[in-house]
Amino acid sequence: MSKIDIVLGLQWGDEGKGKIVDVLAGRYPAVARFQGGPNAGHSLHFDGRSFVVRSIPSGIFREGSTNLIGNGVVLDPITFREECGNVAKIGVDPKEKILISKKAHLILPTHRLLDAANEAAAGKGKIGSTLKGIGPTYTDKVSRHGLRVGDILAPDFKERFAKLKTRHLQQIADLHYECAPEKDEPAWMEAIEFLKGFKLVDCEYFVNSWLDEKPMLAEGAQGSMLDIDYGSYPFVTSSSTTIGGVCTGLGVAPSRIGKVYGIFKAYCTRVGSGPFPTELFDETGEKLRRVGQEYGAVTGRPRRCGWLDLVALRYTVMLNGVTDLIMMKADCLDDFDAIQVCTSYKVDGKETDQVPFDIAVPIEPVYTRFEGWKTDLTGIRREEDLPKAFLDYIAFMERYLKVRISVISLGPDRDATIER
Ligand code: IMO
Ligand code: MG
Repeated sequence: MSKIDIVLGLQWGDEGKGKIVDVLAGRYPAVARFQGGPNAGHSLHFDGRSFVVRSIPSGIFREGSTNLIGNGVVLDPITFREECGNVAKIGVDPKEKILISKKAHLILPTHRLLDAANEAAAGKGKIGSTLKGIGPTYTDKVSRHGLRVGDILAPDFKERFAKLKTRHLQQIADLHYECAPEKDEPAWMEAIEFLKGFKLVDCEYFVNSWLDEKPMLAEGAQGSMLDIDYGSYPFVTSSSTTIGGVCTGLGVAPSRIGKVYGIFKAYCTRVGSGPFPTELFDETGEKLRRVGQEYGAVTGRPRRCGWLDLVALRYTVMLNGVTDLIMMKADCLDDFDAIQVCTSYKVDGKETDQVPFDIAVPIEPVYTRFEGWKTDLTGIRREEDLPKAFLDYIAFMERYLKVRISVISLGPDRDATIER
């Protein structure tokens, strides 16, 4: 019996999951997405090429790999078809390598419009959604109105589509949102025909019988601080980005789970609205954005930047039962004289090392300061060549988080990775 190992983002997304899944995928014959949808943008860099995948698992470029889109995912046929086109351009046959759960829910064109209508109606209180229709699609799933991938084979699919569309048009009208609701429908219907060319599977049976023989890697999207239950609600995404999402999103029992790789960046970023205790509004934040090239892979939006928040990180390590930490982008701190790490919060004058119920209340981060290592880390490939100031910094984090940092990534390329 093999295990399913998991890669999860521990912050607000954009931790570098794509790169790590691509690196690890060499060891796993299958990679599965279990939640989220095209709000994700996972960047891969290899052989001098760069690629962003949105719904397709990041194992796609590994030879002989199987890539599963699980039932916890919401799938937009239009973006999926585009993505497949890009993958095919470099000689990968998506129909050969991708399987899709019949129970994954479909994002309709009107889901995207509803996303936009909701955000427009929210005004200043908007979530800062990627507007890919994620929230409305999960809403329909939970309210039992959704359409699933397996439904595309039903003889009355078109009628069911029309019924759901009518419901959405009413909701859009109630929000007084002006749009051209039929614009994307022809492309969507064509993309539905394209979907029929894929292997549509009963994901739960597939995964469990696969694990009887071979291991699998589950690839999280977004980050734990965007989780529907444990994130900074309501400024979150609409899925379970934490470990429970793996079980419900693929149909596997907790006893099947092996390693839990938790990924974090050496600093923090966030796109969209919502609380961010260590956010920097000064030249240092600007520098982090510039050096880390912190612009959204999906929307191109500049990301908000700040120092590493160990209070939030310890919280998400706990939630997920992380067994191995992976630190990304430490090289982006190479040129800082001092590096700050938030080790507790001051809320209402009281110091705490826990994430409060409402992190939208004024929080004053309490920092521990480290001397910068002022060394170019990008070319280093062996642990013993790392500067002492950097190793001290890592040792501090391991003590605070009580989990080993087993992988350090020092650049976007597959090879710029040190395993400890
Ligand atoms: P990856 O997988 C960063 C954020 C959005 C917004 C909130 C809700 O690349 O790490 P949604 O479109 O889900 O309704 O948006 O969540 N968000 C992400 N931020 N990385 C992501 O994915 C994200 N997916 C959603 O910016 O604040
Ligand atoms: Mg992203």
